[in-house]
Amino acid sequence: MRFIDLRSDTATRPTPGMREAIARAEVGDEQKREDPTVNELERRVAALVGQEEAVFLPTATMANQIALRLLSEPGDELLADAWSHLFINELGGPAAHSGLVMRPLESTDGRFSAEQVRGAVWDRRDTHRPITRLVSIENTNNSAGGRIWPLGEIEAVAGACRDLDLRLHLDGARLMNASVGSGVPADEIGRCFDTVTLCLSKGLGCPLGALVAGSTERMEKARRLKHLFGGAMRQAGIVAAAGVYALDHHVVLLADDHARALRLAEGWHAAGLPVDLEQVETNFVQLDVEPLGLGKWDVLAALKEAGVGLSNTVHPTRLRAVTHLDVSDEDIEAAIELAPAALGARAAV
Ligand SMILES: Cc1ncc(COP(=O)(O)O)c(C=O)c1O
Repeated sequence: MRFIDLRSDTATRPTPGMREAIARAEVGDEQKREDPTVNELERRVAALVGQEEAVFLPTATMANQIALRLLSEPGDELLADAWSHLFINELGGPAAHSGLVMRPLESTDGRFSAEQVRGAVWDRRDTHRPITRLVSIENTNNSAGGRIWPLGEIEAVAGACRDLDLRLHLDGARLMNASVGSGVPADEIGRCFDTVTLCLSKGLGCPLGALVAGSTERMEKARRLKHLFGGAMRQAGIVAAAGVYALDHHVVLLADDHARALRLAEGWHAAGLPVDLEQVETNFVQLDVEPLGLGKWDVLAALKEAGVGLSNTVHPTRLRAVTHLDVSDEDIEAAIELAPAALGARAAV
């Protein structure tokens, strides 16, 4: 039985074309800036996300953490969505690596408003408060289910940050999903920010890799932090070649992932599974187990037994299915049949 792996878009394996690009990669010493493939990837991603320069890194977590370190001093305060990857999934990194006070903002669909930012900032004349220094936006937002920030809302937060002398980071691990899903070019989104993280190992289908982008001056410092954090590599063009390949061949396929997520959501909804179609904006489908009268772990186990992999979310009753390059139309049609059958049988027990 084929296992339909909808747990995460990190599940992809390099395609034959990507493996060929990896095999043919020209390489050099990346630490000396002599790896032509890394250099090409960095140039292309900087332009793609509307920033002057980009730095290649092993993971998006490292990209986020370097960005925060660049933009702040120990004891400063960071504002972000309470359920953001930065706050929930990076093991306290902002506090551990940058000495930041982590101040969560309530969010709706992963978004908070410019007014919330204005209301949260400490008055700098008060010497008994930390300096609220930076804000982070996650687009698309993972824990809200791949939801997109409309450009106007980003611009409003960016405007508040300018007025209040705050820096603004984009955790754009899935920025290309946001761009494809909204039709807004990634550089238009990216240029609203001081720093931008882009991940290659999610919807773009690379085995690993991410970039942090920003001004030339900041990226010079980012290269030092990359070394400090243990991320300075050698013949990294072997991996960067996958990134270049993904920009050429995989960005365009994200629209198919989004269409498959919608088809899955519609199929499950039609079969009576609790899926809110309004929430499907990119490659995530959220399944609410509460109306089924089942627990999350029971549902995960029943689906796994049926050959369909979903994963947990931070929401108390929601699971998620995520489409990606290794999920075909046939897989989606099979999952539409298998999941309701498995859960119906389970619910009847
Ligand atoms: C929004 C977001 N940011 C950052 C990351 C971190 O990515 P990595 O696992 O490459 O460190 C993830 C991973 O799922 C994510 O969803």
